Amino acid sequence: MIRRSRVLKAMRIDVVTLFPSMVNVPLSDSIVGRARGEGRLKLGFSNPRDFAEDRHGTVDDRPYGGGTGMVMMPEPVYKALKKVKKRNSYVVVLTPKGRRFDQRLALDLAARKHLVLICGHYEGLDERINNFADLELSIGDYVLTGGEPAAVTVIDAVTRLLPGVLRKDDATVNESFTDGLLEAPHYTRPAAWRRMKVPEVLLSGNHKLISEWRRSAARSLTGKNRPDLPGAERGGREKPEKKG
Ligand code: 6GU
Repeated sequence: MIRRSRVLKAMRIDVVTLFPSMVNVPLSDSIVGRARGEGRLKLGFSNPRDFAEDRHGTVDDRPYGGGTGMVMMPEPVYKALKKVKKRNSYVVVLTPKGRRFDQRLALDLAARKHLVLICGHYEGLDERINNFADLELSIGDYVLTGGEPAAVTVIDAVTRLLPGVLRKDDATVNESFTDGLLEAPHYTRPAAWRRMKVPEVLLSGNHKLISEWRRSAARSLTGKNRPDLPGAERGGREKPEKKG
């Protein structure tokens, strides 16, 4: 019998970083590690250090105009990018000054064939590198020591959206943020644990009631924790909870 060989529609991501192990190690376990093992995600690295132009391997220098910290020199980063960039590459610079990452952007990136993620370190990249980027991306309003943890976050969020990575593609449909709502709470056995009971309706087997309960629980949770999301129920907590 002739078996049609299954053609894997793999995605490739190359990371331009001075610290590849900061990205490689956390993406070697669990679901992303398995996706790499199955060839669904091909992850590569290109290190600007390998393209330093002096014998000390210098890749950073003091900022023009003065100020604290060091800036990554453009040429080693450019050469590291050039080594991995192809015609169909989508080039992303990771920077706290970028557009904020969300599930919609994750879906957008997951549809690309090849991503190149450029990680700044120290005070950041020479601004001129941005001329080679399609997108500047931040993962949130706080400052990290470098783009590497942000790259891990982006690659994780994108990889779980690739075909075949999750057991059920359904798991990516009914989840937080895709419909402007946080997910309803989940429970597993035992039904009573340390005197805390699982909501009765979830044990009822009545799928219509269960789905109504989940919708309502999701709306009130969103109102409490994320009143800024479109699916939030009004009348939730408007101000941060006072502690103590
Ligand atoms: Cl992409 N980089 C750095 N250094 N800090 C961040 C960030 C990126 N996103 C949020 N904070």
